[in-house]
Amino acid sequence: MNSFQKEVQSRKTFAIISHPDAGKTTITEKLLLFGGAIRDAGTVKARKTGKFATSDWMEIEKQRGISVTSSVMQFDYKDCKVNIVDTPGHQDFSEDTYRTLMAVDSAVMVVDAAKGIEDQTMKLFKVCRMRGIPIFTFINKMDRQGKEPLELLAELEEVLGIESYPMNWPIGMGKDFEGIYDRYNNRIEQFKVDGDDRYIPLNEDGELEGSHPLMDSPLYEQTLDEIMLLNEAGNEYSVERIADGELTPVFFGSALTTFGVQTFLDAFLDFAPSPQPRQSSKGDIDPLSEEFSGFIFKIQANMNPKHRDRIAFLRICSGKFERGMSVNLSRTGKSINLSSSTQFMADERETVNTAVSGDIIGLYDTGNYQIGDTLTVSRDMFQFEKLPQFTPEIFMKVSAKNVLKQKHFHKGINQLVQEGAIQLFKTVTMEEYLLGAVGQLQFEVFENRMKNEYNTDVIMERVGNKMARWVEGNEVDEKLNSSRSILVKDRYDQYAFLFENEFALRWFQDKNPDVKLYNPMDGK
Ligand code: G4P
Repeated sequence: MNSFQKEVQSRKTFAIISHPDAGKTTITEKLLLFGGAIRDAGTVKARKTGKFATSDWMEIEKQRGISVTSSVMQFDYKDCKVNIVDTPGHQDFSEDTYRTLMAVDSAVMVVDAAKGIEDQTMKLFKVCRMRGIPIFTFINKMDRQGKEPLELLAELEEVLGIESYPMNWPIGMGKDFEGIYDRYNNRIEQFKVDGDDRYIPLNEDGELEGSHPLMDSPLYEQTLDEIMLLNEAGNEYSVERIADGELTPVFFGSALTTFGVQTFLDAFLDFAPSPQPRQSSKGDIDPLSEEFSGFIFKIQANMNPKHRDRIAFLRICSGKFERGMSVNLSRTGKSINLSSSTQFMADERETVNTAVSGDIIGLYDTGNYQIGDTLTVSRDMFQFEKLPQFTPEIFMKVSAKNVLKQKHFHKGINQLVQEGAIQLFKTVTMEEYLLGAVGQLQFEVFENRMKNEYNTDVIMERVGNKMARWVEGNEVDEKLNSSRSILVKDRYDQYAFLFENEFALRWFQDKNPDVKLYNPMDGK
C-alpha cells in the first residue's frame, strides 16, 4: 500500500444520530477530548446552547465562521483520522440532516437508557438503513435509573427492526451502577474506580478470579446470569452482518461521567469501515483510486443579503484534493478552480490544503453547485448516484404576496427547489403550491431567501403534518383527491397523496387496493 492509500485507509467518517437530549453533544465532546482536538470540556456544548432564535443563526454563523451548526470535526486517534460529521438536530433539523448521512461510512446511534428509541432517532436510523451502512449503538446515561437492558435490546428489534449484539453489559444502573461487563475485551470496567484498577480481567470462562468485593454483590451474579442468557439465546456475533448494517453492536455507558466512552471508541474504530466504494454512472468508484472525485451533499446559504456566498459541502470519494486544483462539474461540463476551501475542526475555522477520500471539505460557492453534483478530474464526466428523495412531513401553502411579482416568485421557488432547500408540490385541483419539508427551519430559510435573493415576499399558510405517499406507476384517478387524501404532483410530475394521518392512509388503502403507494424512505 502506498502512502496515499494508507492515508485513505486511516479515515473513519461517521455521524452521530440521536434524539435531542440523548447526549450527542456530550459524547462528541468526550471523543474530541480523547482525540486532543479540544482542550476543554464545554467547547461543543457552548456552541450548542447559544440560545439563538432560528432566524438568527445563519447570521451568527457568518460572524463565527459558520461553526455554529453543522460542521465536520476531525481528530487523530491511534492510527486513525476520525471525521465526525455533525447532523443538525433540534431546531435545525432539515433535509440537510438526512443528506449528511449520505456522506458518512457509518453511524453511531446514541440512545437515552431511560427513554429508549425516540422519534428523531428512528427517522435518522431509517436513512442509515436505506444506505446499508453499519450502525453502532451507545446506550447512554447508565448512571441514572433507566429501562432494563434486555427491554432496550427488545426495543431495538421491535421498533427499529435491527438485531443487536451487546459488546458489553451494565452491572446495575443508576445509584447501583457498578460498571460494565465487557464481552469484547473480556474484562470488567468499574464505574466507581479510577486509574489502572478500573479494569479487572476475566478468566477464560468470563468470570472474576481470586477474591474481589464485586463477587459478593448480587448484581454481579445477576450480570453473569444475563451474560449466560445472551451467550445462549442472544444473536450471534457476525462481523459481516455488522458491516452490512443488519446487526448493531451495542455499548453501554455514561457520557457525562466519561464512562465507557473510550471503550466504545476503541472497539468502534476496530469495526468502523474506512471509506467505501461509491456507485456512479460508470460503476463503483474505488476510494483508493488516485483520480479525484466527490459529490456535494449539502449547500449552506448565507442569510445575509449582503453576502450571497454559500458553502457547499463535498464528500471526497476518491483521490486527493489539493487547493487550487481544477475539477470538472459533471452536470454542466464546466471546469472549476477549487481555490477556496475550508474545513471545520471543533470550534476553529481552518483552510484545508489537502484532503483525501473519506474527508469532507467546505467549498465557497457563488452559485455553481447543486446538491448531488459530482466533481471530478476525470474527463469522462461520470456522476455519482442520485441522492434519494426524503419524505417531507410538514406542509405549507405558499403564494406571492404581490401578484405582480409572479415572475420573481416562480424563479425563486424553482431555484430553491432545485437547490434542495425545500420540496414543491402542486395540488391537482386548484394548482396551488404546497411546500414540503422535514423540519420547520426549511420554511424559514425559504421565506428569508425569497425575500433577500428574489425580492419576493411570500404568504405561507400552514397545512400541517401529513404523510406523503407516492403512487406506483404514476397512474391515478384524480377524483380520489379529497381533504383527507390530497392528491398532488411533485416537481417531477409524479403523483403523491398527502394523508391526514396513519388512519386516513390505511382507510384509503382499504378502499383503493389497486392504488399502490410507496414511501421513498422505505427504500422501495
Ligand atoms: P444532545 O446533544 O443529544 O441534545 O444532548 P446533550 O449532550 O446536550 O445532553 C443532554 C442532557 O443530558 C444534558 O443535561 C447532559 O448533561 C445530560 N447527559 C448527557 N450524558 C449524560 C449521562 O451519561 N448521564 C447523565 N445523567 N446525564 C447526561 P442538561 O441538564 O440538559 O444540560 P446541562 O445543564 O448539563 O448542560
